[in-house]
Amino acid sequence: MNRALITGISGQDGSYLAELLLAKGYEVHGLIRRASTFNTYRIEHIYQDPHDPGARLFLYYGDLANLEQLANIIYNVRPDEVYHLGAQSHVKVSFEMPEYTGDITGLGTARILEAIRRSGVRTRFYQASSSEMFGDAPAPQNERTSLQPRSPYAAAKVYAHWITVTYRESYGIFASSGILFNHESPRRGETFVTRKITRAVAAVLAGRQNRLFLGNLDAKRDWGYAPEYVEAIWKILQQDRADDFVIGTGETHSVRDFLEEAFAYVGLDWREYVTADPRYFRPLDIPVLRADASKANHEFGWEPRVSFGELVRIMVDHDVARLGLEPPGEGRKVLEEKRFGWHRWNAQTPAALESNLEAVW
Ligand code: NAP
Ligand code: GDD
Repeated sequence: MNRALITGISGQDGSYLAELLLAKGYEVHGLIRRASTFNTYRIEHIYQDPHDPGARLFLYYGDLANLEQLANIIYNVRPDEVYHLGAQSHVKVSFEMPEYTGDITGLGTARILEAIRRSGVRTRFYQASSSEMFGDAPAPQNERTSLQPRSPYAAAKVYAHWITVTYRESYGIFASSGILFNHESPRRGETFVTRKITRAVAAVLAGRQNRLFLGNLDAKRDWGYAPEYVEAIWKILQQDRADDFVIGTGETHSVRDFLEEAFAYVGLDWREYVTADPRYFRPLDIPVLRADASKANHEFGWEPRVSFGELVRIMVDHDVARLGLEPPGEGRKVLEEKRFGWHRWNAQTPAALESNLEAVW
């Protein structure tokens, strides 16, 4: 039985990846942070009592700020594969907390790699690199595009990316990076722009909200469907040699396009609800991200199956259903028809356990 350790298992990608690996027969170990409230709602539906003799999911308290603790977990678990997804992942927040972001998102990777090296455990390592690292570099961006970070988050990810390459080349560790473009889902954090919009669409329909405050509507992003991206993450660690891979759809859309698609899907005009608010603009933003994922397609046949319009419908359907309303249903149909196998509509985030906090970023 393969054994994997996932940092960031309570996040969007970590929760999908845990589901995927359990479906593949892995034993899955995950790092979670101690909090005074529940922060494990995304993995509640796959939680197993560790006393159960058949249990294959195990959770450990830990923090990316603490090398000794990470080294102990890696030494004791002795994973075959480490998926390092944990990070302070919000770009706007990184402008408010640059030092913390550098510590967790940048140095956190160095700590995990050093824990692997010191423990002497032979394991494959995955680094969650980001298209945000490309910054101003012209689109489409691929593995050879120069890195021109434009946020403290991107600068931290560039450090983490290069320290991964350094450990691969210095110590022969099987260390790979996935340079992933934006990917979204009903489990996306509520303060990222797509989820903020789809939650607002549902709240407007339910009569709970009549204003949506946003920042830069001109920014263009390459948005894909998160479960397809965790399939790519797994594939990256199954290659014969460690390498770096860009993952994205190759299409780009503006925030305005997303608004148009999401509101029109339920028969609303976004212009009647959206107001610009300076607090959501960033000191620097990236104008256009668009992936050239031809290397991943060539090396292991990865290509996205869910289109931009389908992604929007999946997310709106989920958020509308979450408020107890009947959704239009096209998104649900997409998931039923495309048959992911390991991931079905009814395995979405349990609505009752979701955070009720309003988006603040
Ligand atoms: P996410 O939902 O924000 O999840 C981040 C995870 O990291 C959460 O489990 C979080 O725990 C954990 N974490 C944060 N600080 C930590 C700390 N100090 N110690 C231990 N764990 C900590 O992010 P995501 O969207 O799943 O993304 C996964 C990874 O891919 C991140 O590294 C992100 O930067 C990167 N990435 C994401 C995208 C995207 O579009 N989603 C694209 C490119 C790269 P809590 O639940 O307790 O907060
Ligand atoms: N969050 C947010 N909130 N973004 C807004 C808003 C708002 O109210 N209004 C406009 N935007 C714009 C942002 O300025 C940005 O240009 C775009 O919407 C996308 O913002 P986010 O959804 O916050 O994502 P991101 O692109 O900054 O970062 C995400 O993708 C990266 C990969 O490119 C995160 O998941 C990062 O962790 C990831 O690395």
